[in-house]
Amino acid sequence: MSLKERCPVIEFKDLGDERGKLVVIEGNESIPFAIQRVFYIYGSDSTVVRGQHANRESEFVLINVAGQSKVRITDGHEEFVVELNRPMMGVYIPKMVWKDMYDFSSDSVLLVLASTHYDGSEYIRDFDKYIEEING
Ligand code: TYD
Repeated sequence: MSLKERCPVIEFKDLGDERGKLVVIEGNESIPFAIQRVFYIYGSDSTVVRGQHANRESEFVLINVAGQSKVRITDGHEEFVVELNRPMMGVYIPKMVWKDMYDFSSDSVLLVLASTHYDGSEYIRDFDKYIEEING
């Protein structure tokens, strides 16, 4: 399976009506895991690169609920960039995939849904070590 196939862009259902938009994300339904943690990143700007890690245990879905940002996704072999610019779209990041988030608009609010509680020890923050680990 290609990296893009492993990290699909997910379009969420819009339950909006004339009163406004409504997007619902249900664990194990609209995304492939049960949600254990939610965090969001805002106040970053176009000079900042965040992420820069892979996770041994966690899966994520990233959604720009406001503004926009880009996510560079790589497994050391393939690489692609997703522009997150609509509250109705997200990108799924499985375990052991490296991601960098950058080019944040000043109004960017990047919502992250995670499959685990936080455990700093499952983060790989050194790219060379990441490549070593995936190559076994
Ligand atoms: P970091 O992983 O560097 O953020 P990002 O991947 O978004 O660039 O996290 C910044 C700090 O916040 C770091 O000290 C770890 C802490 N943190 C938690 O305590 N819990 C969490 O769920 C997350 C994502 C980070």
